[in-house]
Order: sequence, then C-alpha cells, then structure tokens
Amino acid sequence: MIVLGIESSCDETGIALYDSEKGLLSHVLHSQVELHAEYGGVVPELASRDHIRYLVPLMEQVLQQANLTRNDIDGIAYTAGPGLIGALMSGACVGRSLAWALDVPATEVHHMEGHLLAPMLEENPPQFPFVALLVSGGHTLLAHVTAVGEYELLGQSLDDAAGEAFDKTAKMLGLGYPGGPVLARLAEKGEAGVFRFPRPMTDRPGLDLSFSGLKTFSLNTWQKLQTELEGQAEKLEQGQADVARAFQEAVVATLSIKCKRALKQTHCKNLVVAGGVGANQHLRQQLSKMVKKEGGQLYYPRIEFCTDNGAMIAYVGCLRQMAGESKSLSIDARARWPMDELTSIRI
Ligand code: KG4
Ligand code: ZN
Repeated sequence: MIVLGIESSCDETGIALYDSEKGLLSHVLHSQVELHAEYGGVVPELASRDHIRYLVPLMEQVLQQANLTRNDIDGIAYTAGPGLIGALMSGACVGRSLAWALDVPATEVHHMEGHLLAPMLEENPPQFPFVALLVSGGHTLLAHVTAVGEYELLGQSLDDAAGEAFDKTAKMLGLGYPGGPVLARLAEKGEAGVFRFPRPMTDRPGLDLSFSGLKTFSLNTWQKLQTELEGQAEKLEQGQADVARAFQEAVVATLSIKCKRALKQTHCKNLVVAGGVGANQHLRQQLSKMVKKEGGQLYYPRIEFCTDNGAMIAYVGCLRQMAGESKSLSIDARARWPMDELTSIRI
C-alpha cells in the first residue's frame, strides 16, 4: 500500500510517499523560514497561504521522484492537528479532496505521533516499550509508549515548550528567527563554567517541566552583561556565546534528569528523542551518555526528520490506514488534540 503524507501544521510544507512494503519512497520539504524571518516569528495567515501555494507542486515533485503517478496512490494521510488552524486546514482540505477525487481512503494524523514514531523510519528502530521525549516548538512532553497509539503521558511543560524557550531566548539575545539552531551554533563558541543557570523543577519529584523562568534568567544575565561590558564589543560577543552555552546546558541537563527519572519510573531501558529540539547535538550527546549508563540505548530520527516533515506523516498514516482507520468526507482540523485520544494499534 502506497500512502501520500501531507504535513502543514506550522511553517513547513512536507510531502512524502510511504510504501508499506518498500518503506519511504520519496519526500520533499518547503521551509517558510525566509517568509517569516522579517517578522521574527511565524505569521499564521502567511503560513496558510504559502502552504496553499506549495502543496500541489510538491505532490507532483514527490511523485516524479518516486517515478509514480497519482493513480499509484492507495491512500492519503494528512496532519489534522495540533498546530496552526489555518495551516492545518490547507493540508486537510487538499488531502481530503484529493482522496475523494482519487477514490482512496484519507486518514488524519496527529502531528506529535508523527514526531514520536519518526525514529521508526530509521534502519535500527526502537522496540516497544520505551520512553519518548518529544521536544518541539509547540510541545514538550514525556510519554511511556507501549504500542502505536498507546501513549501514557508522564509529564509535560507547564509553560514554554523547549523549542519555544530556545526561540524566545535567541530573540532576546538578538539572534533572529528561527532561534533554536542559531542559538545552538552560538553555544558552541561559549566557554564552559562562566555562568551556571538553574535546572528548573529538578529539585522536586515529578516529570513536569518549566522553561519560562530559565528564559527570564537568561534575559537578566544578558542585560546585566550588556551594562557591565558597554563599549567592549569583543568581550560582549563572547559573553553572548557564554549565555547561549549556559542556557543550552541548563535545558539539556534538565531534560536529561527528567528522562532518567522517567526511565526509572517506567522500568524502561530505551529512550526515544524526537521533535525539532531533538536535532540539538548537545542534547543527543548528553541523553545518549545518560541512557548508556543506565544500560539502555537512545534512538532518534535523522536530523531532517527531527523537524517537521512529510515522511513521518506518511508513515503513521500508512500504519493507521492498514489498521482500517479512515476519515469520513468531512474536513476537520484541530489546533489542540490531546495524544491520549488516539486509538491504539498493535502491529
Ligand atoms: O518539531 P518542530 O520542527 O516544529 C514543531 O512541531 O514545533 O520544532 C521546531 C522547534 C523550533 O523551536 C526550533 O527552534 C527548534 O525546534 N530547533 C532546535 C534545533 N533545531 C530546531 N532547538 C535547539 N537546537 C537545535 N539544533
Ligand atoms: Zn513538529
């Protein structure tokens, strides 16, 4: 069965073809980074319009790459939530309509389930059960995963998601958009031990997270530094990198502490990290070290499947379609969609 997957929940249009027997056939991505850069963040209306512009040409491209025609498609899968409602509706309308026109089933996919199962696209996929750390721009959560669709929420961010904290801190440091990867690059130039930022909510039991205070701590440190080093451009530049490093280290250390706790609590050995912040090299290294010490293994998708993409949607859509899930002719999208509302499938 060949499924065409459509991702359009935020600022990336991703299209892919997944074959239940051969695996991923092709995938393409159009990023809207340049479109939103001058505004310093995603402008929802511009995002929706851009998805509309790119959805069909990208579908043609993905078919061409796989040497297939639209008649080879056995099903359509599209992200139905959570995300920006207009952006989601663009993909949902095109996806549902195309399925109707081709007379094939359509399946709604939960964006975070896509992220969570993205490591399954790799050569050495994780086996159930495992703990998943999902760290994206909109969500940060820890889940105990026992099967596809069986996600027990262990903890989540009570305020800013990890990616959001990266983006906002980057903005405060004057680093532009999208801040996460830029801040991570700057952090490499920072010196170790110059600043030590707090590890929020690690001094009490539980698996919830909070990054908003850390963001404020970074701002205060940066403002103080700017006053102290006024007129000393070179020192200030180094100071900015030191703040970036301390911020990244604090986020990574906090996530690592919580992941270790989650593994202990669930008696799991293996950890999956996915979502945009999962592309962060320092996070991968630290989590890998921690999990190995605990006798397990860390799994993650290749970098391009950490951030938003169509491949993860085509994959989950294919699994769910093979399990008989298909959507009526109505077109729905959900800005919010709790993961525990998903149905489980045993494969
Ligand atoms: O999963 P994703 O592509 O979109 C959402 O579903 O939100 O995640 C995007 C987030 C952004 O906040 C971005 O700054 C962050 O992931 N991100 C990173 C890195 N690459 C992307 N954060 C830290 N380090 C990175 N290397
Ligand atoms: Zn995402």
